[in-house]
Amino acid sequence: MDYLDELRVRLAVCDEEILECLLRRNSLVEGIIKHKESHNMQIIEPGQETWQAQKLEGILQNQRYAQEVSDVFQCIAYNSKKIQARHLFHYNIVLIGFMGSGKSTISDCLSDMFAMETVEMDRIISEREGMSISDIFAVHGEEYFRNLETGLLVELQKKKNVVVSCGGGTPMRENNVEEMKKGGKVVLLTASPETIYHRVKDSHDRPLLENNKNVPFISELMEQRRKKYEAAADIIIETDGKGKVEICEEIVQKLLELDGEREAVLKS
Ligand code: S3P
Repeated sequence: MDYLDELRVRLAVCDEEILECLLRRNSLVEGIIKHKESHNMQIIEPGQETWQAQKLEGILQNQRYAQEVSDVFQCIAYNSKKIQARHLFHYNIVLIGFMGSGKSTISDCLSDMFAMETVEMDRIISEREGMSISDIFAVHGEEYFRNLETGLLVELQKKKNVVVSCGGGTPMRENNVEEMKKGGKVVLLTASPETIYHRVKDSHDRPLLENNKNVPFISELMEQRRKKYEAAADIIIETDGKGKVEICEEIVQKLLELDGEREAVLKS
C-alpha cells in the first residue's frame, strides 16, 4: 500500500467514527426529548443551545479549521432540532388568529426552535400573484383572494411537519378549517383589541384595517369572528403580555397534552 492509499484508509476510519458518533448522538437527542416529555419538563431551553454553542466556540478557538468545523456543528444542531420536532409533532402546526395576533412571529420562533419549515400563506399568495395583499384586494377583490387561500390550503395537505401561518380571515370558511385539520393541529392565538391595535397601528399591508385602525373597529370584527376562530381551534393560547419563547413553550405543552388525551381515549 502506498502512502496515499494509507491516508485514504485512515480517512475512511475517521468517517466511520464520525458516523458512529452521530448515530449515538441522535439516539441521545431522542432520549432527552422522550425524558422531558414523560416528566412534563420544559421542552424549549434556548439557554442550553447557547451554552453548547459557546462551549464549542471555546474549544475551537485558534484551531486551524475553526470555521469549517463550526459549520458542521451548526448543521448537527439544526438536525437535532428536526429530530426533536419529528418526535414531538408528526403533524402540521396551523396557526390561526386575528390580524396582529402574532402568527408570523410565533411561526418564525417555532421554526427557529425546531428547525421546522414555515409556510406563511399571505407571503406565498403575494409572491405568486406578484403583488401585495392590499393590491390583490384592490385589483381582484376579496373573494378572489379568499379562493387563493382555499386553493393553497388544499395544496398544503402534501406537507408534513411544517408550521403554517394562516391569514386572519382563513378560518372563516368552513371548508378551509376542514383542510387545516386533515394533516394538522389548529392553534388559535388571541390578544386583546388594545394589544392588536398597538401591533398593527404602523403597518399598511392589511386592507381590512387600512382605514379602520382603531380599537372599537378591531373589537367588533374580532367579536364577529370569535365563534369561528374558537370552533376551528384545537388549542387556544392567549398572547397578551407574554414573550415569544413563553408562547411557543405553551403551544408545545398544550399540543403534547392534547396528544396524550387522544392516546388515552384510543387505548380505553
Ligand atoms: C386578513 C388578514 C391578513 C390578510 C388579509 C386579510 C383578514 O393576514 O390575509 O389582509 O381577513 O383578517 P394577517 O392576519 O396575517 O394580517
